[in-house]
Amino acid sequence: MRRLIFILVLILVASLVACGGDSAPSSGEGEPAGGNADAGEALFAQSSIGTQAGCITCHSLEPGVALVGPSVANLGAEAGSRVSGLSAEEYVRQSIVEPNAHVVEGFGEGIMPGNYGDELSEQQLEDLVAYLLSLQ
Ligand code: HEC
Repeated sequence: MRRLIFILVLILVASLVACGGDSAPSSGEGEPAGGNADAGEALFAQSSIGTQAGCITCHSLEPGVALVGPSVANLGAEAGSRVSGLSAEEYVRQSIVEPNAHVVEGFGEGIMPGNYGDELSEQQLEDLVAYLLSLQ
């Protein structure tokens, strides 16, 4: 009897594994939403975002040109080494929603609006991050 139960359990486990195997390819089809760099570029270029000034008012896309904030021309290459322990993506995201967490050398604290996290949807934030990471 024990042997029979053992075999039944084995069959059950085997069929579960088989089902898992069948569903694996379809779960791979769902693309992660992720950010859209083209949408991010358009958003970055807006003269305003909600109640705030747009990014382009303070950030130049020309290398080395500092407006109110630093140029973002090479940010995709630099972001990963700004703050140790933060990946490029984590750093860029933090810089947008929490600008005072790390203040870029040579620039003032509290100048970049601190409420973009409220003004931007999660998708818009991801689009901006994808765009900024593409700049290098
Ligand atoms: C009123 C001017 C102003 C606006 C508008 C502004 N920023 Fe900034 N930003 C700054 C300043 C000043 C700094 C540097 C000080 C600091 O790190 O907070 C900065 C820093 C940054 C950094 C870090 C750059 C680096 O080289 O490490 C990123 C990324 C950034 N801003 C993205 C944005 C994005 C995206 C927007 C639009 C959603 C935006 N900023 C809007 C002034 C601004």
